[in-house]
Formats: sequence, structure tokens, C-alpha cells
Amino acid sequence: PPLSPGAPLIGHLRALRKDPLHFLQAQAREYGDVVRLPMGPADLVLVAHPDGVRHVLQDHARNYSKQSRGFRVLQELLGHGLLTSDGDHWLRQRRLAQPAFHRQRVAGFTRTMVDAAADLAATMEARADTGAAFNVAEDFTRLTLRIASSTLFGADVSSATHDIATVMSRLQVFVYKRLTQPVPLSLRLPLPAHRQFERDVGSLNRVVHGIIAKRRRESGEHHDLLQMMMEAHDDDTGERMSDSQLRDEVLTLLLAGHETTASALAWTIMLLSQHPGVRRDMESELARELGGRNPTHEDLPRLELTHRVVDESLRLYPPAWALSRIATKEDLVGGFRIPKGAHLLIAPWVTHRHPSIWDNPEGFDPDRFLPEREQARPRFAWFPFGGGPRQCIGNQFALMELVLVLATLLQRVRLNLTPGQVIHPTPAITLRPRPGVWVTASRP
Ligand code: HEM
Repeated sequence: PPLSPGAPLIGHLRALRKDPLHFLQAQAREYGDVVRLPMGPADLVLVAHPDGVRHVLQDHARNYSKQSRGFRVLQELLGHGLLTSDGDHWLRQRRLAQPAFHRQRVAGFTRTMVDAAADLAATMEARADTGAAFNVAEDFTRLTLRIASSTLFGADVSSATHDIATVMSRLQVFVYKRLTQPVPLSLRLPLPAHRQFERDVGSLNRVVHGIIAKRRRESGEHHDLLQMMMEAHDDDTGERMSDSQLRDEVLTLLLAGHETTASALAWTIMLLSQHPGVRRDMESELARELGGRNPTHEDLPRLELTHRVVDESLRLYPPAWALSRIATKEDLVGGFRIPKGAHLLIAPWVTHRHPSIWDNPEGFDPDRFLPEREQARPRFAWFPFGGGPRQCIGNQFALMELVLVLATLLQRVRLNLTPGQVIHPTPAITLRPRPGVWVTASRP
């Protein structure tokens, strides 16, 4: 692939660490759909075109592994859960968890999602009366954590929720910092940040082991993901998952299942406040289809604009903004030779703004997702949930949650950005709005 020459020795490392979103987008614009970026010790190959993305994630997924350096750093936190395992172990765990995410089962979560959103709506109505400003990104983090923990593990973490959300958020920042260091320091070095990491992991472990231990005492009464994972056994050996494997899976699903949807909700509120015309149309759709009542699962197909708003928000601010892969064999991507061992970067952020795929890529236009316009685009022009065998297991869960929460909330409050605010998309493991999304609420 064409080489984008960087500084001697460190290549583009500094630019990538400083502002990865703009850096990667600029490289793709200048060098095209596959570009080699020297990064000091190793090169990074950025694959920007949807056809290349499809090749790596789906059609030739066998030639790529997830065992990048970032994967190993993430394992320090998540162990060998679904997100951070590979090979046969991953496949077994995926098959085990898959039934819990079937469409029909996920439909059964509607009520929990809507009830949690209705509680938040009530809190926001009270704030509308006082006119106080608040960071809606924080509210969404607590909301989605509550939804994920009660739907998947039947656990009421709501009393401890705030604490866990704060701990997880601090961990995410720490892990991302390690991810972007050329050589992360051993966690055994007694640095204050490492001690904090251990304390935070300790708090999460207590919560997660608490959930598992409680379930062991009550087994038989539940039919959720946790129960399925606890009851599953190996066909040959009859062995069940150990507490430590369960801990990895529970923590992975809690983290992957709430941070991403919370960011997506916060970005959507920002976009709607910036585009009052779209917001008015969406409020009309909700009023017409729901008439002030909370949505049910049957209402979902009729909330067409609300779905399009969610899709467009995930295009502009994909919570999983970049994915990495390692080539396990030599391969050809977009006509370029990819050597065995190459580090690939696939960035929804970049592909979702590809100038020859999207008109006015930076503009917010939910109607891009009208079926007739969607058909004109390649499959991987939009892939906020990845694709191929490692596609997000919570894809349906997340889309349903996003639409239900917005439909419940936005019938009752209108959220306006406080004036003069500059919101930076900040890459951590997920793409977060910094310093948050500060809003005031009013009655629509
Ligand atoms: C994997 C995005 C919500 C659980 C992924 C991947 C992406 C993604 C891009 C693939 C990573 C890769 O290929 O390297 C998102 C986004 C979400 C979301 C944007 C919300 C807007 C959820 C939810 C759950 C979840 C709600 C669980 C309830 C997982 C798990 C994996 C995963 C377990 C690993 C799957 C595997 O490798 O088998 N997610 N996700 N995600 N996601 Fe999500």
C-alpha cells in the first residue's frame, strides 16, 4: 500500500496519539483506501474503503486475528470474555451466549428498558421545572448500566450503579492510555495509577462475584443470560464454566453493553438539539404513533424516523470508532499486498465519512437511511457494530434500546444544549463526548 512517511523513528505515533480521529481521516483522504502508516516499532495499515472492510471483517475473516497489542491490554481488565478471546474458546463462548441475544428474547426486554427510561424521564421533568443544567451523558451511563445488568443478569445494581459507572469510566480511560503507549509499563510497577487500577478492578470483581454468588444460591428461578451461562456444560467433559470464566463474561457484557449505548444516546441528544427541524419531525412522529404513551415492541416498526436518527447518529459518532486486526497470512486487500503479521486498523469513524461514498459526509441527514438511498451504498459503508463472525452480539439489543429510550424520553422532555458549549469527540475505548453533553430540559 502507499506509504505515508512520518517522522524518523516514531513515524506518526505522536499524531495518532494526539488526535487520532482527524489524523486517520486526513491520511485516508490524502493516500486513498489502503494506506501504510509507520508507527515507530511497527507499521499500521489503515483500511478505509467499505469493500476492504468487508474483505477483512467478513469475507476473509479467517486470515485475521484479534490478537493485537490492544487486545492484550484489554485482557488485563476483561480476561477471556467474549470480546477478548479468540479461536475455539471464543467460538464455544459465543455459541453459549448467542441464544440469549435472539430477536425474540431481546424483545422480552422491552418493558425493562421502557420502565428505566420512564424513571429517568420523571427525573428530567422535575429538572425542567427548576431549569437546572445537567450532563445528560452521565444520566445515560447510569441508565444503560441499569438496563444491561437487569436484563442480562437479573441483578439490581441500581443502588451501586453510580459507583460502578464511575469506576468503569475511570478504567476505560486508564486502559486506553496503556493502549496508546508504545510499550505499556508492567502493572507490577508500584505507580499510583497502577494501584488505582487494582483497586478499581477489585471493586468491580466484588460486584460481579456478588452477582454470581447470589445466583448460585437462587438457581432455578431465572431464565436469563447468566443462568444460561451457568447451566451450560461441555458436551465431552460435562464441565461447567468456572467462576473466573463467568466473571470475565459478566464484566465484558456489562462494559460492552452499557458504555457504547450511553455514548450513542448522548451524541443523539447533541445532534437533535443542533438540528431542531429534525427534532420537530421526530417529536411529531412520536406524538402521531404513540400519542403520549410509552412505546411497546409492536410500535417499533412504525417509528421510522426515530430509527433513521439513531442510524445517522451512529454513522457520525460510532461509539466503537476503530477496530484492529492482525493478518495471520499474506493477503490482498483492495489490490494491495498485506504481509503476514501486519497490523490493520479499521475505523468506522473514517469509513462513515468516506467522501466518495457519502454526500456531505459531515452533515446530519437521517434521510440517508431511507431504504431507497441505502440500497445505493456498499454493505460496509455503515458498520457501527462491526461485521462477520465477530460482529457485535448486542446489535439488536442496542438498536432496540436506543429507539425505546429516545421514544420514551423525548415525548416528555425536550433537551437543549446549554449555549456556548464546545463538545469534543474524544476517543477512549469508546468515542465519548467531552466534557459531556450539558443540557437543560423543557416540556415539549
Ligand atoms: C462486539 C459495537 C452494544 C456486547 C462489538 C463490536 C463492535 C461493537 C464494533 C466488534 C468489535 C470487533 O470486531 O473488533 C457496539 C456498539 C454498540 C454495542 C456501537 C451500541 C451502540 C453492545 C451491547 C452489548 C454488546 C448492548 C451487550 C449487551 C458485545 C460483545 C462483543 C461486541 C460481547 C464481542 C462479540 C464477539 O467478539 O463475539 N460491539 N456494541 N455490545 N459487543 Fe457490542
